[in-house]
Amino acid sequence: MKSGEIRAKYLEFFEKKGHTVIPSSALVPENDPTTLFTGSGMQPLIPYLLGQKHPSGKRLTNSQKCFRAEDIEEVGDNRHTTFFEMLGNWSLGDYFKAEQLLWFFEFLTSVVGLDPNRLYVTVFSGDSANNIPKDEESIGIWKQLFAQKGIEAKDVELGSEQRGYDLGMQGGRIFAYDVKKNWWSRAGAPENMPAGEPGGPDSEVFYDFGTPHNETFGKYCHPNCDCGRFLEIGNSVFMEYQKQDDGSFAKLAQRNVDFGGGLERIVAASNDNSDIFTIDTLSAVIKKIEELSGASYEGNQTAFRVIADHIRGAVFMIGDGVLPSNTDRGYFVRRLLRRAVRYADVLNMKQGKFAELALPVIESYADHYSELHEYEALIKETIQKEESRFRETLANGLREFEKLSQEDISARDAFNLYQSYGFPLEVTVDLSKEKGIEVDEKGFAEEFKKHQEISRAGAEKKFKGGLADTKEETVRLHTAHHLLLAALRQVLGIHVHQRGSNITSERLRIDFSHPQKMATEELKQVEDLVNQKIAENLDMIRKEMPKEEAMKLGAEMEFGVKYGDMVSVYMAQDQQGNVFSKEFCGGPHAEGTGELGHFKILKEEAVSAGIRRIRAVLE
Ligand code: SER
Repeated sequence: MKSGEIRAKYLEFFEKKGHTVIPSSALVPENDPTTLFTGSGMQPLIPYLLGQKHPSGKRLTNSQKCFRAEDIEEVGDNRHTTFFEMLGNWSLGDYFKAEQLLWFFEFLTSVVGLDPNRLYVTVFSGDSANNIPKDEESIGIWKQLFAQKGIEAKDVELGSEQRGYDLGMQGGRIFAYDVKKNWWSRAGAPENMPAGEPGGPDSEVFYDFGTPHNETFGKYCHPNCDCGRFLEIGNSVFMEYQKQDDGSFAKLAQRNVDFGGGLERIVAASNDNSDIFTIDTLSAVIKKIEELSGASYEGNQTAFRVIADHIRGAVFMIGDGVLPSNTDRGYFVRRLLRRAVRYADVLNMKQGKFAELALPVIESYADHYSELHEYEALIKETIQKEESRFRETLANGLREFEKLSQEDISARDAFNLYQSYGFPLEVTVDLSKEKGIEVDEKGFAEEFKKHQEISRAGAEKKFKGGLADTKEETVRLHTAHHLLLAALRQVLGIHVHQRGSNITSERLRIDFSHPQKMATEELKQVEDLVNQKIAENLDMIRKEMPKEEAMKLGAEMEFGVKYGDMVSVYMAQDQQGNVFSKEFCGGPHAEGTGELGHFKILKEEAVSAGIRRIRAVLE
């Protein structure tokens, strides 16, 4: 089956069971400061798992775009990817174990058509330290479900992963593992959870590809063995606990189900092929790499998989407005693209063609994720630019690397390769692996953090206060600044966000995300639009509201700025209530845009990769 087909069938199946289909959130979490990227479908739902009422009811389902940066080093085997789609269904204090396990089993066996004899499951073996009992209820439900298929399902208590390797399958079908394997929270095991965090025991389903066990992983095979015979295809979390301030666990007011299953993996199981890169969406990219490089996937799997995974991840990131840069999220996009370019070179892929790899990704996914069509031009252009930028420094960087690589690479040298030659850490690590030398990755991470802190402190100084004073001229320029940001987003696209601002009584200055120089025509359009909105004399209206509500309204906020629970939002709107601009902002502002006078852009220039700056005045 194809990915789109399984996605559609899953959503339809859970819709029939009373669930509302909700859209996928962006890869950039909106109200979750704990992670840089959305890594599971439940992340955007935390407030509702904790008891807040969800506007779409108690039963929800979706397919969520996910990105797990921590898996970047694992990419290259037959099943790990950084980007993936997670099929999810949730009960917010509604149904619980009996319905969840039955429905997922029914979906896998009746809708996807998997042979139940190839399915193995795991449950929670209990955590005496925290008084959380073994999940006997799930064991009982699984026994019944398998019995209905004529399978006698024996349960085996393994506890630790090590005991799995020591004891093996033992004729079991249901395996109980400890907190390391069968407990789920955003922070992992109970001891790592901060106070207030919800979590709970889970039950995973594994598909058995029947491939021979590889003893380098451990003596015997078991469902959580890493040899590749078993693939985890779905995880039902019974989220009913919350960590307390004193470190103990208490039951939440409601019992939730948080289910997540990797779409790619379910498709791979339905094809009975353990290499997830053979499924339709990824094999389309593999085919394109073969076409552009003349190399074949067979025999070059690692390079093909890295390129396919990374280009797909980068396409989705750019589609969500994350552009390559040297900080935070942008650095991940840069890493993905530059590492993929390196592997493309290893395959002798034609230079300058790299961006063409985005096409099969966009074609495979745009039906469901329309943002990819919408930003197709931006995606291709950004990738092309990043390839050429990297190439400009690659030769020098490689020369420098050759000099350094007589011995292990220190943190300082790895950081210098990154900062002066544009080598993301993985490029240095991959090159070092080829040479059989080590890189001080931990030291690099520390240097990187130090550098980020210094540049952040610098940025704070540069943009201190935003507004230099509250003179009338300054306040009018502040209002013009709001109109300008809204106009930029309208003319250039919604990837534009404010990255800094500085306003004096003479002029305004805005830094914003945008990958390239603005064309003269675009500058004129922006200027005209601002002047049109001045002529319309929009009201500047201030509203106080909870942060959540402001986010739902889509009010613009500055990247990296922390806001309190109650925020003030300024809207520029006409008499009919049509809103042109809405921003998180404390003011002060002109009462109406008619007071501003004529708006004029003086200069547009680059600040750093992906960030532009405009200076403008009111005449
Ligand atoms: N949150 C769980 C996971 O990510 C299930 O959705 O595995």
